[in-house]
Formats: sequence, C-alpha cells, structure tokens
Amino acid sequence: MQKVIVTGGTGYIGSHTAVALQNARYQVIILDNLSNSDTDSLDGIQRITGTKPEFIKLDCTNKDDMRCAFEKHRDAVGVIHFAALKAVGESVEKPLLYYRNNLGALINVLDMMQEFKIPCLVFSSSATVYGVPEQLPVTEDTPLQPATSPYGQTKVIGENIITDTVRANPQIQATLLRYFNPIGAHPSAEIGEKPNGVPNNLMPYICQAAAGIREYLNVFGNDYDTPDGFCIRDYIDINDLANAHVAALKHMQSGKHGINVFNLGTGRGQSVMELIQAFEGATGVKVPYKLSPRRTGDVPAIYANADRAEKILKWRANVPLNETLASAWRWQQKILKLK
Ligand code: NAD
Ligand code: UD1
Repeated sequence: MQKVIVTGGTGYIGSHTAVALQNARYQVIILDNLSNSDTDSLDGIQRITGTKPEFIKLDCTNKDDMRCAFEKHRDAVGVIHFAALKAVGESVEKPLLYYRNNLGALINVLDMMQEFKIPCLVFSSSATVYGVPEQLPVTEDTPLQPATSPYGQTKVIGENIITDTVRANPQIQATLLRYFNPIGAHPSAEIGEKPNGVPNNLMPYICQAAAGIREYLNVFGNDYDTPDGFCIRDYIDINDLANAHVAALKHMQSGKHGINVFNLGTGRGQSVMELIQAFEGATGVKVPYKLSPRRTGDVPAIYANADRAEKILKWRANVPLNETLASAWRWQQKILKLK
C-alpha cells in the first residue's frame, strides 16, 4: 500500500480525508500536535474503515521531530498538509502565533519533502484568498485580494511559498486546494467537527442553537446587497471535500503537473437564511435566531466556479445539502451524548 503523510489528520477535514484515503487503499500516517483535536477521531476512522491510521504526536514546527517522522516514512508518496490554526479573530489578536505556526509548519513540511524526496503535496488553502471578489462565481484566475486577517495572510503567503519551492525543485509537485465552506460530518456520525468553546462558524453554531446549547444564533447582517439581504456562501459537504484530496493526489501521481490550484465548492451560493431554513427542513428542528449587526470583515457574497476540478480531477460535489445538514445534526446529537 502507498503511504501518505497527513499533517493535522486528527482534525475536522483531516479525519474525513483519512477515511477517504483509506477507502482508496492508501496507508495513512497522521502527524498532529492535538492543539485543536483529540485522538477520538482515530477510533472513529477505525470504526468506519476497519483500520486505525498510524498516529505520531508532534508539532510540525519542530524540525527534529518532523525529521524523525519523515525518516521513518521516507517511502511516502505524498503529504497532505492540513496542520494550521484557523480562528480568524484569534489571528488578529495573536498574529505571530499564526505566522509562526502556520508558516513554520509549512516550511518544515517542504524541507522534509526535499530532504526525503517525497514528490507530491496537497495544501489546504481557502476561498479567503479571494477577499471581496469583483465577479461571481470566482474561478481560480480571479485576482487574489490582500488578506483581511493574519490567518488569511498565512494562506496567501503559504501558496506563494509553495509556488516558489516547486519552481526551484521540479521534482516536487503541489496542489493548492481553495476550500469554500466545508460543513457536515461523516454519515455514520463517527467523526465530525468539534468546535473549541463558542463556535465562530455558522454550521456548528446552528447545530448548537438547535440543540439548546446556545440560546439563539446571531444572524450577522440582513442589509447586504444580495437577493434576501443575507450573506451568501458556498457550503460544501465535508465528505465531498475529503474525496477531492484523493483525486488531487491521484492526479499528481499520474504525471508531472508542477503546481495546480483548484476551487472546492458546489458552485451554488446559499444565504444564511436559506441555510437555516434548509437545516430546519432536513432535521425538523427549529433554529432560534436573532438578527444582529454585520460582522466586521465578512464578505457579502462568494461562491465557487469549480469547473476546473471537475475537468481535471474528475471531481465534483455530489452530496445533497439536506443530507449534509442531517449529518451535521446527527453528529451534534452524538457529541451531546458523549458529554
Ligand atoms: P482543525 O483545527 O480541525 O484541524 C487542524 C489540525 O491541525 C488540528 O488537529 C490541530 O491540532 C492540528 N495542528 C495545528 N497546528 C499544528 C502544528 N503546528 N503541528 C501539528 N498539528 C497542528 O481544522 P480544519 O477545519 O480541519 O482545517 C484543516 C485545514 O484546512 C487548515 O489548514 C485550515 O486553515 C484549512 N481550512 C479550513 C476551512 C474550514 O472552514 N474548516 C476553510 C478553509 C481552509
Ligand atoms: C470564515 C472566515 C474565513 C475562514 C472560514 C473557515 C471570517 C471573516 N472568515 O469564513 O477566513 O476561512 O471561516 O474557518 O471570519 N454567520 C452568522 N452567525 C454566526 C456565524 C456566521 O450569521 O454565528 C454568517 C457569517 O456572517 C457568514 C456565514 O454565516 O455570512 C458563514 O460564516 P462562517 O461559517 O464564519 O464562514 P466565513 O465567514 O465564510
């Protein structure tokens, strides 16, 4: 079996990608410092796939520890690099923490790939690199805008660091995946998103408000220049997103492609209110909410043109929104029971 090193693999997107990789018969080695996850996801992955991935607890910013792990797995065919801090507000308060963690980890990953001649990298980028786009939907050629937070900067700078490194080292190829808004959980409810404290993101907040953990959801802004006045996003099922990583890896393994960049979204925009209503329709559970002022830094509307991923990776988002929302709710009920 071919080995893949997955940094940040016990986290939300990493754990679902580990399932997709194992289903595609790759051997998964997870490196994570557990700063925003725990090892329960390893058991969940095992219950879904029958195999527990090898887990090495380390901080990707520690080069000696990274060298030990990469030396042990020097025959890996690729690295999928998820490990990063992702709280936008925190990144504004603690920029150096974000630059050190997110960029330090990435530089070590690239160093190790050079040292041990590992040929393929998949990088978690974000639609945040497009800022407030002038045209919708956004294609990969839509001009990037200056990032509005240090977190966003780490994605813009991360993409540049990788591009320069691939240029200088043609034996390495890389795929930059720009995620839109990943939501939902594995349909088995064995793995899902575990927000730390009060959620910042909409989907976990909807689930917690529906479960009565939060009194109500604040709907940020109803006066946007959009059809119903609410912000629009492209919500993509986490399992669809995970499968795109396997497609990206296979594509790189099929030839020499240098650097590739793909939007990962559904191509459909959904307003906050539409998402709340769809959640209520899919689960039969009411979401208490209040209209609140706009949240600083929010982009009024963004959704993907994901044609390039469909054409080149033969990947597209498939899971219907009501199934995704039902999976998010099943997972929410499960984590309530565990507490
Ligand atoms: P997550 O927090 O669930 O997973 C990230 C994992 O990385 C965690 O398990 C954490 O413990 C680990 N980690 C962080 N810093 C580390 C370090 N220095 N060394 C080792 N492990 C470290 O987040 P996620 O939602 O799964 O996001 C995965 C990636 O996707 C991140 O790079 C994130 O920026 C990016 N991304 C996420 C979203 C989203 O909406 N979830 C959107 C766009 C991009
Ligand atoms: C946010 C980040 C983005 C990051 C992404 C994934 C900001 C400005 N952007 O994206 O950089 O890549 O998360 O971590 O923080 N909403 C509410 N009430 C809530 C929460 C959200 O109405 O309690 C609305 C927001 O105004 C937005 C939509 O829901 O319109 C989605 O918000 P969120 O889930 O935080 O994602 P993004 O803002 O798209």
